[in-house]
Amino acid sequence: MNVKDEVRDKICLALDVDSLDLVKEIVEESYQYVGLYKVGKELFISEGASSIKIPQSFDRDVFLDLKLHDIPNTVQGASKAIVKHDVKMFTVHAMGGKEMIQAAVRGINEGSKQYENQKPKILGITVLTSHDANFLKEILIDKPLEYVLIEYAKLASKNGCDGIVCSSKDIRFISPHIHKKIIYVTPGVRLGEDKKSDQKRVSTPQDAISNGSSMIVVGRSIIDSENRKKVLKKIYEEVEKGLAYKK
Ligand code: C5P
Repeated sequence: MNVKDEVRDKICLALDVDSLDLVKEIVEESYQYVGLYKVGKELFISEGASSIKIPQSFDRDVFLDLKLHDIPNTVQGASKAIVKHDVKMFTVHAMGGKEMIQAAVRGINEGSKQYENQKPKILGITVLTSHDANFLKEILIDKPLEYVLIEYAKLASKNGCDGIVCSSKDIRFISPHIHKKIIYVTPGVRLGEDKKSDQKRVSTPQDAISNGSSMIVVGRSIIDSENRKKVLKKIYEEVEKGLAYKK
């Protein structure tokens, strides 16, 4: 199969596993169809920075998804340290607020002076795709989900985030309120026949791309599959169709 870079670069595989051996196996099996690998809390806490080096050794970039949310000084230091690992992007929670997001920007500026690596993009997490209106009530946010999404996205984009993480279904509400260059990274992606698990606001890969997603994040649908290559091919084909639909 002739894999096009413009399609592959829209596919991010979430390496939500806890061992380096499994990461090696998955990356080897998938890198042909995957533009970027996401290293999240499970893998990073289990295996540390070695987990970032595996996709990099296959000439693939890494998205470090640690969802930072802390006092500004701590987030500044953590963001600076992230530059050391030469990753393409990382996440902070928009609900951490203006000062915290600006501290992340200062952190990567300091880090880029210290390390000769790429300057990572900062993505702001809006409302997790596993959350819905009932969840907002549970944490005492008494506002409609759509309003919260827009305000968090504005907070992220105004204070220096290069992109936001949201459900692809949210893009049409959010995009009129923020600048055009923002990147939309969208998890909560499922192939038609898949289980939703804990995700509530889900889309298919094709819908996510035609809704304006810059990159889809897929984890369990690939990782847990008995035939990962087959699932990836299907995702690739859907992304290609989504891109054609957009043109
Ligand atoms: O397995 P699944 O495809 O649901 O994986 C989704 C990935 O995207 C997980 O690694 C999760 O941490 C991440 N994520 C998410 N919702 C967000 C941000 C990140 O599901 N809003």
